[in-house]
Amino acid sequence: MHLLDDDIQRVLFTDEQIAGLVDQVAADISRDYAGRSPLLICILRGAVVFCADLARRVRLPVGLDFMAISSYAGTKSTGTVRILMDLDTDIEGRDILIVEDIIDTGLTLSYLVDNLKSRKPASLKVAVLLDKPDRRKAAIEPDYIGARIPDEFVVGYGLDYDERYRNLPYIGVLKRSVYTD
Ligand code: PRP
Repeated sequence: MHLLDDDIQRVLFTDEQIAGLVDQVAADISRDYAGRSPLLICILRGAVVFCADLARRVRLPVGLDFMAISSYAGTKSTGTVRILMDLDTDIEGRDILIVEDIIDTGLTLSYLVDNLKSRKPASLKVAVLLDKPDRRKAAIEPDYIGARIPDEFVVGYGLDYDERYRNLPYIGVLKRSVYTD
């Protein structure tokens, strides 16, 4: 039987290590937003696992809403961002925290920040679990970062390759043979 784990070259963060990263981000958010009730905007699909864990670690009465975005085909960013599903919430006057699994070129987040700012929130910040700073094309830096990683193709904990591996409990580097065959 072929297991998902067979396609992983090496583990970058175990589930325990990820929990530590999430705890740190959640603690920073709980401190910075004390007394407020931010709306977490989970960017589907990759951020769903991180957002679910983060929301349960933040010691604040947060709201949750979702946007579905697509910018990738295979392993390469196309640079074209499409909104597949928009928010249900009117965010005017709200404290908004965008939750993303990873920032790579930054094109997706740059588009999202511009788009959401035009809806006049009281404040707008960005939390990402992973940052690949080497690949940045857009001038954007997240406010909260779980960890910086090298430029390798990572999957698991929400991150996919062609819609697979999202349910791996850890984050690992995908074997090149999986996407070069
Ligand atoms: C991933 C990730 C970010 C984006 C980051 O999404 O969730 O949205 O790519 O890349 P960038 O900084 O180069 O723009 P993807 O389009 O793979 O969709 P998914 O969330 O459904 O996996």
